[in-house]
Amino acid sequence: MKKGKFIVVEGIEGAGKSSAISVIEAVLNRHNIPFIKTREPGGTPLAEALREIVKSASHEEKLTQETELLLMYASRSQLLANRILPALESGTWVIGDRHDLSSRAYQGGGRQFDDGIMDAIANVTLKGFTPDLTVYLDIAPELGLARAQARGELDRIELEKIEFFQRVRDKYLSLAQASETTNVIDASQSMQAVHNDVTAAVEAFVSGMQG
Ligand code: TMP
Repeated sequence: MKKGKFIVVEGIEGAGKSSAISVIEAVLNRHNIPFIKTREPGGTPLAEALREIVKSASHEEKLTQETELLLMYASRSQLLANRILPALESGTWVIGDRHDLSSRAYQGGGRQFDDGIMDAIANVTLKGFTPDLTVYLDIAPELGLARAQARGELDRIELEKIEFFQRVRDKYLSLAQASETTNVIDASQSMQAVHNDVTAAVEAFVSGMQG
């Protein structure tokens, strides 16, 4: 039985996921809610090894789109079984830096795998498991990528063209708007305004849980 809650932060590169996660940590700490943090791809030793492969831009052998898709879900399967579900079952909450919505947006939107393929792989991996709350930080790719570039070297996926990220954002937005458990936050606002919006979304969720 799942007793903890799973809160996921989503967005393209440079949207401000790390700051949003710090804000969520502060809210949970204020309410004395125990939690762990995870990131995807990654979060277990094997999943972190898969992360290295999908993020590395220096492959002598080109990574196919199909391999990329399958590695994302392989990593998610390891993380779900070995960290997320055990934590939730013990009553510990989980803050996820990305989850399935990332695959829907990047592989489904960006790489243009069709919904039938995405649904089939997601069903095999997740068996209907979904986050309790998703905070999607929405930002124009031009702005997000400029922020990511300012941080340093770009990884394999960050080297994609702007049209790729436009498709990723469009898919994120359409799926987020159709989901009752996803909050869309305008990440182009000032840091303080984004911080306030994230706090409000998570506070409302925690209050709802506490009845
Ligand atoms: P990041 O978490 O440091 O932003 O890096 C993860 C990269 O992997 C990022 O470019 C998004 C990408 N990604 C996918 O393409 N599909 C996925 O399912 C996940 C979790 C990440």
